[in-house]
Amino acid sequence: MALVRVALDARSYDILIEQGALDRAGDTLKPYARNGRLVVVTDTNVAATQLPRLDTSLRAAGIMVEPIILPPGEQTKSWRHLEQLLDALLALEIERGDHIVALGGGVIGDLVGFAASILKRGCRFIQVPTTLLAQVDSSVGGKTAINARAGKNLIGSFYQPALVLIDPSTLDSLPPRETRAGYAEVVKYGLIDDPAFFAWCESDGHRLLAGDADARTHAIGRSVQAKAAIVADDERETTGRRALLNLGHTFGHALEADTGFSDRLLHGEGVAAGMALAFRYSARLGLCPQADADRVTAHLQAVGLPHDLATAHVTADGAGLVGHMLHDKKMAAGTLPFLLARGIGATFLSKDVVLDDVAAFLDAERAA
Ligand code: NAD
Ligand code: GLY
Repeated sequence: MALVRVALDARSYDILIEQGALDRAGDTLKPYARNGRLVVVTDTNVAATQLPRLDTSLRAAGIMVEPIILPPGEQTKSWRHLEQLLDALLALEIERGDHIVALGGGVIGDLVGFAASILKRGCRFIQVPTTLLAQVDSSVGGKTAINARAGKNLIGSFYQPALVLIDPSTLDSLPPRETRAGYAEVVKYGLIDDPAFFAWCESDGHRLLAGDADARTHAIGRSVQAKAAIVADDERETTGRRALLNLGHTFGHALEADTGFSDRLLHGEGVAAGMALAFRYSARLGLCPQADADRVTAHLQAVGLPHDLATAHVTADGAGLVGHMLHDKKMAAGTLPFLLARGIGATFLSKDVVLDDVAAFLDAERAA
């Protein structure tokens, strides 16, 4: 079993990564089951595929399982489902000392984390992520949220889990397109500050995507190590270090907005195209070697991820996409901080980006 510690003083916790961990979760989670009971929140897709494994293991360890099963999809990160979840937890007489298990992707993790942060002024929760995106990113670091009419993730809290338990074999039932979208977040860690890991993605990423257990475990471990270090350094995104995790997200958010935050472009797919755009824009500004931008584009293309406006199914022009960026929640005092790169593994936060120039770049991309 690989163990990564997120060092946050009293809020520190472990990330455990092990093939088959779900089938041994009874032993691992027993110390967290107050009065021999655990509430497990999941969605219908995960309930059909992974919940039986967890349920069997917990029951074998003598733990009573109380499942709460919600609909799948981004619309579950809503006031309506938050209220439904809180009512269900209150009906089960959850107390502050209880641990709620979030079994699922980023949607379940974000919703359960937020519910845990406000229920009875805060009870504990455990992340058991079942998508690649959640295993390498959203289950670690304590960002929790629901969506508002005004935009995604606008209502939430920083609230760390008590434990993250990752079983790479849960990805066996994940649709390949979801795995590929999550893989964009894996590549992101290489691009931020780990060129050797990006080179591993180029040489071995296809093994992960084909379901190789060692490749999955290696990539998840390296990703959560990187994320744990960043979160320990800048938990609340105040120094700029955690903001590096948003590489590709400003362009990606605009692409997602143009495609209506729909199945036309999954979040990770938007991030993939966004990272390619961020590197090509950095090359256009003379900051980054064109060869590095070309390598990023080539790898994303090779694994079948969107890497430009056409493959992201985006139709808006540059001004339209920049219009979406103006609604980005990172906008501060009329300036939008941008993640740019001096090369692969050399990402930095720039506050000097001129949005009219970004629009001209995007128009040039459209015309290419
Ligand atoms: P998701 O939770 O919607 O899961 C994607 C789909 O896969 C869903 O249909 C789900 O039911 C299904 N699924 C999950 N695990 C499965 C499995 N093992 N087998 C079969 N089906 C499975 O999406 P996601 O990509 O995991 O997460 C996206 C969400 O994460 C967004 O809301 C985003 O805002 C959030 N997010 C949060 C953070 C953070 O730091 N908190 C970071 C990145 C993204
Ligand atoms: N996914 C970005 C962050 O956790 O900060």
